[in-house]
Amino acid sequence: LSDEAQQVLQAYDWLTKLYHHLLRYAKDGKEGYQYFKDRGISDDTADLFKLGYAPATANFTASFLEKKGFPPQPLAKAGLLSVRDDGSAADRFGGRIVFPIRNHLGKTVGFAGRTITGDGPKYLNSSESELFRKNKILYNFDLAKKQIRSTGEVVLFEGYMDVISAYQAGIKNVVATMGTSLTESQARLLNRYADTVIICYDGDDAGIEASYKAANILRGTGCQVRVANLTGGLDPDNFIREYGGETFIEKIIKASDTYISFYMRFLKKEL
Ligand code: CTP
Ligand code: MN
Ligand code: MN
Ligand code: MN
Ligand code: MN
Repeated sequence: LSDEAQQVLQAYDWLTKLYHHLLRYAKDGKEGYQYFKDRGISDDTADLFKLGYAPATANFTASFLEKKGFPPQPLAKAGLLSVRDDGSAADRFGGRIVFPIRNHLGKTVGFAGRTITGDGPKYLNSSESELFRKNKILYNFDLAKKQIRSTGEVVLFEGYMDVISAYQAGIKNVVATMGTSLTESQARLLNRYADTVIICYDGDDAGIEASYKAANILRGTGCQVRVANLTGGLDPDNFIREYGGETFIEKIIKASDTYISFYMRFLKKEL
């Protein structure tokens, strides 16, 4: 790793702890804490995933990092801070809940910041860098890989909250692509650990289309594929919150389609 990447890694480590601490224990993190509570996330789950909140206070993160002695340029390049017209650094995730994105060693290599007010894009992500390659990483792979190995199965989701909800419900062999289409390198990684990949994307048109593409990439790398059949525009997180983890396993995971029957229904536009 370059010196810059080392510094960015260190900054991520500090900020992961700081944002998580604020979310759990500080007045400054209350809004974030309440947001996750309202979405059914327990304290234990927040601790496990080190969920956090970046305070909206102007320059909160930028000045924290400055005080710790981090030069701003590498952090701005990593998308941790943003740069103003005059060249000074400003917070990028301020006022957002933060999902640390961990690599296979469990180290934070990126953040996703979700709005809790509806302002701006729903999610902001760290920038692509030598540390953070969105098309190589699968969210939660580090925590899931043991269960993937032992069960031979992995459930593939679109998003952070799908993974976190499922994990909280006791379904631990779960990872997500973070909204981008599944790449061959991600498929190869899954194929090394699992025999069967159960694609469980959102039950909307985009999710069905993406399921079809992911299924073909996975089959190309030698995985067995099943495709879950979520309907009514629900995503896995919505479903688990509404019906619980056991129903999710029975009605969605165990009842998932074989690739062939998914493909037939896809062609007949029954989905
Ligand atoms: N995504 C992103 N940037 C966006 C929208 C989505 O990076 N502007 C990624 C995120 O990884 C997100 C995933 O795509 O988790 C799936 O998108 P979506 O289904 O819209 O979001 P959810 O995961 O369902 O998020 P939430 O439940 O918080 O609304
Ligand atoms: Mn979606
Ligand atoms: Mn969406
Ligand atoms: Mn979704
Ligand atoms: Mn969702």
